[in-house]
Amino acid sequence: MVVREQKTGVDLAVELCGLMLRTPLIPASGTLSREALGEVEGVYGAMLPKTATPVARAGNPPPRVAETPAGMVNSIGLQNPGVEVFLRDLDAFDLGVPIFISVAGDTVAEFASLCERLADDERICAVELNLSCPNVECGGLAFCAGPASVEEVVAACRAAVSDKPILAKLTNGGVVENARAAEAAGADALTVINTLPALTVDARMRKVLVKGGLSGPAIKPVALRAVYDVSGVVRVPVVGSGGVTSGTDVAEFMLAGATAVQVGTASFVRDPYEILDEFTVYLKESTLSAKELTGALRGVRPVLTGGEDI
Ligand SMILES: Cc1cc2nc3c(=O)[nH]c(=O)nc-3n(C[C@H](O)[C@H](O)[C@H](O)COP(=O)(O)O)c2cc1C
Repeated sequence: MVVREQKTGVDLAVELCGLMLRTPLIPASGTLSREALGEVEGVYGAMLPKTATPVARAGNPPPRVAETPAGMVNSIGLQNPGVEVFLRDLDAFDLGVPIFISVAGDTVAEFASLCERLADDERICAVELNLSCPNVECGGLAFCAGPASVEEVVAACRAAVSDKPILAKLTNGGVVENARAAEAAGADALTVINTLPALTVDARMRKVLVKGGLSGPAIKPVALRAVYDVSGVVRVPVVGSGGVTSGTDVAEFMLAGATAVQVGTASFVRDPYEILDEFTVYLKESTLSAKELTGALRGVRPVLTGGEDI
């Protein structure tokens, strides 16, 4: 295991829902494999493995990933061994930082029973609800397709797990209304955003290559805007996700209002330790602590608004 200590005198710690994170970085669910765990000691403030579902899922058939000019499109699906096997093997993710668990179900009742299953497991510090998955009782629309279903699923999970923070992970569509609904239903934090709907086509073969979600640098400005808008209207903390690739990106998300920041696609092409290093240098040069960054853009008039009142 590679252990790399930060001895910079810079205060990287942030507080999220009463949990102290020694850095504001969290791996985005689905992007940190068990095999890579030995390489990331000291980088992340919390662990967040891939979404777990009630029973094992094989995921979608290949091809499941396509590179794009500024990111990737994936349709992995929620491939996972099911919650019981997942919990059996969870200790592998214990790197001495709080463990967050991402869950998804096909129905509100499945979400709630997953939360009930996790409620008494002391290894688990927080639960992230992956609300991008389809609700089979609503014709396959995503749980975060609208505020009514967000409210219903978050309220059911809140009732099932009373003493662990719940993070509701939202997609970009309708994100402000959905964020308000999640907060009203008892979410302790909001993760903003998941991948954006996308398609890649193989022109030579004249077929769809991958129909899935776009991630990586291409979605960063969209995610930043969502974080900025959402953090301006809710009182709960916002966790940024979408295209974070450098330490400056981490700073941008925190300035826009994020309390912590998830690193996903970038970890396939960069050593996440370098991202933390760059962020540390940024803080050192700014003589700021990590927590002082959050929301520091508020009240600062944006440059080049393009006529829009943001
Ligand atoms: C290969 C891959 C698998 C993913 N699996 C999940 C998942 O299981 N659960 C989830 O909530 N999000 C999943 N995501 C979305 C990421 O957690 C993240 O929200 C999104 O990719 C945007 O961040 P990024 O641009 O930094 O990757 C996945 C993304 C990728 C690229």
